[in-house]
Amino acid sequence: MSVIARLAGLPGVLLGLHERQLDPDPIRQFRRWLAFARRAGCFWPTSFCLSTVGGDGRPAGRMMLLKGVDERGFAFYTHVVGRKADEMRQVPYAAMTFHWNELIRQVRVEGRVEPIPRDEAEAYFATRPRMSQIGAWASRQSQPLASRREFMNRCREFEERFRGREVPLPPHWGGYRVVPATIEFWQGRPNRLHDRFRYTRVHDGTWTLQRLYP
Ligand SMILES: Cc1cc2nc3c(=O)[nH]c(=O)nc-3n(C[C@H](O)[C@H](O)[C@H](O)COP(=O)(O)O)c2cc1C
Repeated sequence: MSVIARLAGLPGVLLGLHERQLDPDPIRQFRRWLAFARRAGCFWPTSFCLSTVGGDGRPAGRMMLLKGVDERGFAFYTHVVGRKADEMRQVPYAAMTFHWNELIRQVRVEGRVEPIPRDEAEAYFATRPRMSQIGAWASRQSQPLASRREFMNRCREFEERFRGREVPLPPHWGGYRVVPATIEFWQGRPNRLHDRFRYTRVHDGTWTLQRLYP
């Protein structure tokens, strides 16, 4: 079934976003939009652009996959040695931008970055397909690579090393959580007269909600 056909059965996505529809808790609101994107058949609904800033003040962005969201924040997994990891060590803040093209929706999350505890990363790593686990051991993320063959050879070496047993979490791999300070929901509407709402966390942990000009 096409995305549009699926949407026909879903409530008013193009009718705009109204304050009364928004959950007072932006995490619940985000989960609602993510579930909607899944039901609508959006491709890779958990993908987002992760923006970081290095010590030189220059921004960098790359796509990632969200692996969990709850009251603690937004979790993703990657190499903890590499360009983005270096940047998040230097400047522990990040922005995540979700875009559900078919729904004309965007969510922007900004906040402080925290490493995910090793036991939690281990539990997640254990759920990954074995070849992805081997790839995590074999990759030296962000480093120059002379040839694809070199990478494949390293994969074979690690397959051999872990033959017949579980692949453990590599020391150079793990997760991060963005603890949101602001979360903005954007709904596209005709004639560029879009709707935007930004939640901002206040000191007592509650959230304020503000409509913004598009
Ligand atoms: C849709 C999509 C999802 C991705 N998800 C991840 C991910 O969850 N973790 C990851 O390490 N890289 C992921 N990548 C690759 C990253 O975009 C990036 O190339 C890699 O993490 C290296 O980034 P860095 O050199 O800035 O550290 C994904 C790429 C795409 C296109």
